[in-house]
Amino acid sequence: MKIIACFSYKGGSGRTVATANIAAALASCQDNIGSITKALNRKVAIFDLDVFSAGTHKPFGVNSNQLENHNCIQDFFDSEGDAKDYVMNHGLSIEHEFMADFLKFDFAKDNCRKDLVLYPAKPDPGRGFSVGQFHRYMLAECLDILELMGYDYVLLDGESGKRSMADVALALSDVVLMFFRLTHQHVEGTVKTATMWRDDATDYNFYLIPTVVPLLGDNTNVYRDGSPGLPSLIASVEQVPRLNGLTEFCAEGGDQHDSTAVPCYFWNSQPRICVHESLTLKGGERVIVYDAVAGQEQAAKDYYDIAEALTRLHPA
Ligand SMILES: Nc1ncnc2c1ncn2[C@@H]1O[C@H](COP(=O)(O)OP(=O)(O)OP(=O)(O)O)[C@@H](O)[C@H]1O
Ligand SMILES: [Mg+2]
Repeated sequence: MKIIACFSYKGGSGRTVATANIAAALASCQDNIGSITKALNRKVAIFDLDVFSAGTHKPFGVNSNQLENHNCIQDFFDSEGDAKDYVMNHGLSIEHEFMADFLKFDFAKDNCRKDLVLYPAKPDPGRGFSVGQFHRYMLAECLDILELMGYDYVLLDGESGKRSMADVALALSDVVLMFFRLTHQHVEGTVKTATMWRDDATDYNFYLIPTVVPLLGDNTNVYRDGSPGLPSLIASVEQVPRLNGLTEFCAEGGDQHDSTAVPCYFWNSQPRICVHESLTLKGGERVIVYDAVAGQEQAAKDYYDIAEALTRLHPA
């Protein structure tokens, strides 16, 4: 089983939408549906660890008010609950009544494995909750149980920034996906964080994945709102030094923006750093890998490509 932390230096990076879509792509069970060219057929669990700003349920069509009386991750932590009971009885499988919209609108019914499960967090930022070191051990226990249950991948939708729960997610993960938007704040913070991880010799593999990216061929350097375009992004990320574990990943992407080498656009002038260049998504916080509407096809394909790359490079 591989644990994948979805991390971002700043909020609003598209992390949650990406987490849900990558999870859905990993759990795909039909070929040639939407962006799913070949079903990846993995057993997948997702934890919403964004305990102060929960939202991983949204792309699955779950309403926040439905979670009011649900035993969410903060309730589990607060009550120092039994990990086995929590894992077995308090996840939302796609057949759970709260996921009815997901099945209805996202054509997930026949295309997503039934054992995909989400452990949601209570969307109540005002509540008193403090993160303790012991949460890491409680979560680790849950992960051990999921491994025994034959899960292949667990995605942790963590907090943004270097905060306590984000640290819990990072400490438990094998792979970190770092999402960031093309703004100076996002890029600078992401590059600094990546550099720090490199210098600390962290032992997880990490990948930089920009979202809301201008399409390939758009050579604007700086947009009117101050966001850097693709050339400036590449210049910024070029400063990120080599990082352990990413060589293979990038090597498979080819040196140029060669979309024929692998079905993704991985930028590879700096070995071990991966930049995904075309993750643009217009509108909607939802799972789109099974049925992207016009304008979302590229993003849906990118989510699938990331999931597919994970299965190759970090097999469960
Ligand atoms: N690839 C994308 N391209 C364009 N817009 C996106 C993309 N991904 C997400 N968005 C939009 O950006 C907003 C933030 O997305 P999301 O909630 O996934 O980010 P987040 O990093 O999880 O934020 P938070 O810090 O609030 O948890 C949403 O309105 C979403 O529709
Ligand atoms: Mg989020």
